[in-house]
Amino acid sequence: MIRTSDLCRRFHVGDTLVHALDHVDLSIDKGDFVAVMGPSGSGKSTLMNMLGCLDTPDEGSYRLIGQEVAELDDTALSRTRNRHIGFVFQSFHLLPRLTALQNVLLPLRFSDVDPMLAQDRGKRLLDRLGLSDRMDHRPNQLSGGQRQRVAIARALINEPPLLLADEPTGNLDSKTSVEIMELFTELNDGGQTILMVTHEEEIAAYAKRLIRMRDGKIEQDTVRNEQAPMEARH
Ligand SMILES: Nc1ncnc2c1ncn2[C@@H]1O[C@H](COP(=O)(O)OP(=O)(O)OP(=O)(O)O)[C@@H](O)[C@H]1O
Ligand SMILES: [Mg+2]
Repeated sequence: MIRTSDLCRRFHVGDTLVHALDHVDLSIDKGDFVAVMGPSGSGKSTLMNMLGCLDTPDEGSYRLIGQEVAELDDTALSRTRNRHIGFVFQSFHLLPRLTALQNVLLPLRFSDVDPMLAQDRGKRLLDRLGLSDRMDHRPNQLSGGQRQRVAIARALINEPPLLLADEPTGNLDSKTSVEIMELFTELNDGGQTILMVTHEEEIAAYAKRLIRMRDGKIEQDTVRNEQAPMEARH
């Protein structure tokens, strides 16, 4: 599904050049559930933005579902993003004036999906995520865990092959974090490919594969319950 080779992203900060991504080789297969860990500044968010087509590489290749992302123009890039990627963020990013259901339907606003069908799909998804009695609530009337579930429903409304989550439990208490991870596990059991960034080992433990980053490089890539680094999977 994803294959990067020699992926580089650099930032000029004052006089220094920061290698946020330094020749990253990474493959992710359909059905993977990957946790990305690493110290602050190691390049985790930069990698997520790159894989999510929010940013483009300075060097190297990124193929998403067979398509070389660097070759896409802006229109094609946003179409690819809409179709293939669902995003979940630490701070939910819900629109405060919209209801849960309206937030979930946002990504379909400019699509050609029939509005009635869209409503139906949104309701079914919220129902599946345990929010059937919260559809008409606004974000400030929801708990943190409920807000994150609305954000997850919004990320999934287009049925994207890849779900990217940058510290999805960063603003949640531990009990709610576990609920969100159980939901991710359930989605992954249903075939959803997931890549998430986390600072917490207990959260990473829900993933099937763990990637550790340092200084813009992949330092370790292991499958859960195995000690040996999976060099071959890079
Ligand atoms: N837009 C930017 N402009 C300049 N430097 C940037 C930019 N984005 C990231 N960086 C730098 O790139 C490096 C990697 O940043 P990144 O946000 O990917 O780290 P991270 O692993 O997500 O850290 P954290 O755990 O704190 O979220 C850092 O040194 C950061 O300062
Ligand atoms: Mg980050």
